[in-house]
Amino acid sequence: MGFYTYLFAQLSLFWDRKINKFKRMPNKILIIGACGQIGTELTLALREKHGNENIIASDIREGKEDLMSSGPFEILDAQDLTAIEKIIAKYEVEEVYLLAAMLSATAEKNPMKAWELNMNSLFNILNLAKEKKIAKVYWPSSIAAFGPNTPQENTPQKTLMDPTTVYGISKLAGERWCKYYHQRYGVDVRSIRYPGLISYKTPPGGGTTDYAIEIFHEALKDKKYTCFLSENTGLPMMYMEDAIRATIALMEAPEENIKVRSSYNLAGVSFTPKELAEYIRKEIPDFKIDYAPDFRQAIADSWPSSIDDKQAQEDWGWKLKYNLEDITKLMLKGIAAQK
Ligand code: SER
Repeated sequence: MGFYTYLFAQLSLFWDRKINKFKRMPNKILIIGACGQIGTELTLALREKHGNENIIASDIREGKEDLMSSGPFEILDAQDLTAIEKIIAKYEVEEVYLLAAMLSATAEKNPMKAWELNMNSLFNILNLAKEKKIAKVYWPSSIAAFGPNTPQENTPQKTLMDPTTVYGISKLAGERWCKYYHQRYGVDVRSIRYPGLISYKTPPGGGTTDYAIEIFHEALKDKKYTCFLSENTGLPMMYMEDAIRATIALMEAPEENIKVRSSYNLAGVSFTPKELAEYIRKEIPDFKIDYAPDFRQAIADSWPSSIDDKQAQEDWGWKLKYNLEDITKLMLKGIAAQK
């Protein structure tokens, strides 16, 4: 491309953006990792809200039919900065939700690969925001950012964090980098420490909290489940619809309300495998559970069992909707309807 052609292209891009702002055109949003457990539902929720053509889904692989057919989709490797930049320019993207990551259990099997994916993808997006190529970033953290010496009950927003998994280390490091980019370069990056997320629409991949999804599938299939965590392992969890609502509320909150630029605690609902089995038994009375804890037990033991999310409530009005009884009913109904 010649210099004048380049200059002309840049100038018209600049004016197009100004005119779009003037016309109040909706922001274009890019979701990276759109085919995953969170990405699928978040993409569909944002498309519903902002119009299909304004939400660009991307992932390293294709996803479910409703996601693929409802709006733009691009194959994208979250570590490939040049490819990300091309898509941002092509669609004039202003906001990025970066959801590509390797979760706790899978990451333990390949620590360096997990570290590279989780960190390189975040730096790609933070640097694009620093260079003002995008205006706003969402990046998820997790209860995994806490560790064995964190207070386990009602874990405060600000507390000791000593994660022992590579996933948790990448989340804690990521939180510090988000805060740094906000403080040093004014990047508008927002984040939530998700509890274990429970959904039936898209399967999760390689997490320690995944038992709380598998259990429903097995309960409907065989009326029995062997849990890879022990019966009294309490962990904070959340129904996906609540998590999506929280994510969108945080991103829409006025900038001055966002007091936490590392990542917000979200409590969700805390329960043990034994308690969950009791709720399932209310719907499927002869459901049976036994326990065969594996390497994921040590991971779960290092995480909090309940979370304090006062700050999210105060700063951007967070309020949970679904309790364990609701989740149990919704999961069983949702999975049954898929068969
Ligand atoms: N659900 C995730 C996992 O179990 C935690 O963020 O890895």
